[in-house]
Amino acid sequence: MRSRSLRIALHIVYAHTHHPILFDICGLNMSSITVRKVDFEFPEDVALYALPGMPRVSLFIVAFSLTMPYLEPYLIRMMLKATQHVNDENLIEDMKRFSQQEGNHYRNHARINQIVRGKFDAATAAELLRIEHELKAEYELFLNDKSMRYNLAYAEGFEAMTCAAAMGGANRSQEKSGVSKGWAELLDWHALEEIEHRTVAFDVYNHVVGGYFYRVAAGLRSQFHYLYYIHRFYTVMLKAKGMRVYPYVPFFLLAGGFRYLNTLMPWYNPANYKIPNDLNRRLDQYGALAKEN
Ligand SMILES: [Fe+2]
Ligand SMILES: [Fe+2]
Repeated sequence: MRSRSLRIALHIVYAHTHHPILFDICGLNMSSITVRKVDFEFPEDVALYALPGMPRVSLFIVAFSLTMPYLEPYLIRMMLKATQHVNDENLIEDMKRFSQQEGNHYRNHARINQIVRGKFDAATAAELLRIEHELKAEYELFLNDKSMRYNLAYAEGFEAMTCAAAMGGANRSQEKSGVSKGWAELLDWHALEEIEHRTVAFDVYNHVVGGYFYRVAAGLRSQFHYLYYIHRFYTVMLKAKGMRVYPYVPFFLLAGGFRYLNTLMPWYNPANYKIPNDLNRRLDQYGALAKEN
């Protein structure tokens, strides 16, 4: 009885103060996103090729990884800026957790990138770093000079594309994926959390901006921009490894398949994805790893 009275009192105080701690204590938080601060210890001899038999796909994965320490902080800063335009407490909580997950992702990618960059000759490593700095400056420019609408559509375009790709491999456990040690855990954990927070960028876009045509047009533009950078990293690495650059369909689009095409439709909503039954069990394993750190 006493605890019920206390809860009612806390709700009343929360209604007047909107203090985030009370939001949690009152059990008002409806977010289904869990933050797992995992710090993988990558072996120094982590393979350059995530898929040993598929060097081209593997270099595409390295290119993806190289963008993460720039793309994900950009998303985090964007969410922070967008918070002032959001008046839905649950969505604000989702945005906070989305940002925390993305923060954990890019810090792990930055560490594996450091090792992987060292697997190229000095000139190639320097060239990769040069493109990385260019990408960082570009996102800085987007945040400072472009509208909130532009930035939120960029985020949604990126998240829709990568979530579709993550869903493509969602039913494959990392043990059976054939991916080499180090990359296997990182990519699996990252893909599963991308699925877990799949609705956030979409919901924020709809809450703050809205509009189907702009979502698709600006989303495609953002995917083109992002894939252009991937292409630059990719071609530098292919050439460094003595491989020719052939025309290709970006791996994300191949992995996303029809799910990717569905993201371009007016009825698309990532909340409607049929999530694998064991998603939470697999995520819990990474959660246990986080607690051990
Ligand atoms: Fe991420
Ligand atoms: Fe994400």
